[in-house]
Amino acid sequence: MWVVLLAALLALANARPGPQTPSRSGAQVLRVVPQTDAQLHYLQGLLSLDLYDFWTEPKMTGRSVDIMVSAWSVPVLKKTLNDIGMGFITMIRDLAQHSAQAKASNKAARAKFFATKDANVKHDMDWTSYHTLDEINGYLDYLATTYPDLCSIENIGTSYEGRTMNMLKISTGGSGKPGLFIDGGIHAREWIAPATVTYAINQLVESGSYQDILDAVDFYIIPSINPDGYVYSWEHDRYWRKTRSNYGTLCYGCDPNRNWSFHWDEIGASDNPCSEIYAGPSPFSEIEMVNVRDAMSAQSNLISYLTFHSYSQLWMYPWGFTTDLPEDWQDLDNLASDAVDALTAVHGTHYEIGSSTNTIYAAAGGSDDWAKGEGGVKYAYTIELRDTGNWGFDLPENQIIPTGEETWAGIEVVARFVATQ
Ligand code: ARG
Ligand code: ZN
Repeated sequence: MWVVLLAALLALANARPGPQTPSRSGAQVLRVVPQTDAQLHYLQGLLSLDLYDFWTEPKMTGRSVDIMVSAWSVPVLKKTLNDIGMGFITMIRDLAQHSAQAKASNKAARAKFFATKDANVKHDMDWTSYHTLDEINGYLDYLATTYPDLCSIENIGTSYEGRTMNMLKISTGGSGKPGLFIDGGIHAREWIAPATVTYAINQLVESGSYQDILDAVDFYIIPSINPDGYVYSWEHDRYWRKTRSNYGTLCYGCDPNRNWSFHWDEIGASDNPCSEIYAGPSPFSEIEMVNVRDAMSAQSNLISYLTFHSYSQLWMYPWGFTTDLPEDWQDLDNLASDAVDALTAVHGTHYEIGSSTNTIYAAAGGSDDWAKGEGGVKYAYTIELRDTGNWGFDLPENQIIPTGEETWAGIEVVARFVATQ
């Protein structure tokens, strides 16, 4: 009898949990604005406790901090904030309801697009709504077929769940040209990132306006480098951030932007698999990041690496693991200012510039730090796109094109600079 009981207990302990689908029902997003240094330090302490999903991080007084809190923790956090005399605004009162509304809005925009779409156009991409991973990949395939002298697809590997990861190479041929590597979507819920990256691809390839840049620079572009997470954010949980790997624990996913090997897990990352900033069991445990790293390493003359996130409107350079600056930081800062000047000139959107540690918070294991520190790519930038939290991850569809336009202006500045290198 005891044997049976023991066997049953062991079976229970070894049972692998099914895919986790956290309910966002009743979850809220609270916004606080630290007014004093004491309040700021309190929030930073709260962040390091790793109890909540900080959508934006506390860095300076006067700048808002958005904290996502699950339903059962809402009363505790609100009481805590009240007790220390910190006011808050409930930005999102019910996250499940909020995401349902955003989903309905995107669905309507998609329906409109498909209803009026020219049947002769051999892809399903546009920038009036957010698109699925298949539609994004279909657009890359279409470009390679339609512009064979300019565009080619390279399979860089497979994701944890078995999805093919494709990179678009845009090159007019020849050898030894300076290269620009661009990716988006490392964090699944940051939907504006793949949308903006595909917008940039469209400008480069299909506008017919940038032959001079194309003649001088080779582009390597992957719109969504966390494909499993992206699909999960479409099908199960709009606010999913991580990958979808599992190492036998209750929780799924690693933070792919804590998983790169340069100063891995030193600061601003968690060893708890349930954390949103879980660094993973080891550096490069995540196959998707291995694939991107290898694709980057395979290019010999990369001058710049741009990795797109949202939200906060920041153009950041290394380091993310220390407050120290790279010795050539002035070069990176200068190019960032030129890019942001061009970006702002389009629609007046304000961006901040600085090293990521000094702009948001220290977090080791990022792809930008690896690109500069180990990959030898001098101009590595992490760009946090629109907005500053009014819509957050649910940036409305009608902001995709304006975001694309202004961000393209910034990318164009970087590309023209790369051309001179
Ligand atoms: N919000 C981004 C993240 O949390 C910022 C990354 C900046 N770069 C860095 N190496 N910390 O991943
Ligand atoms: Zn991100």
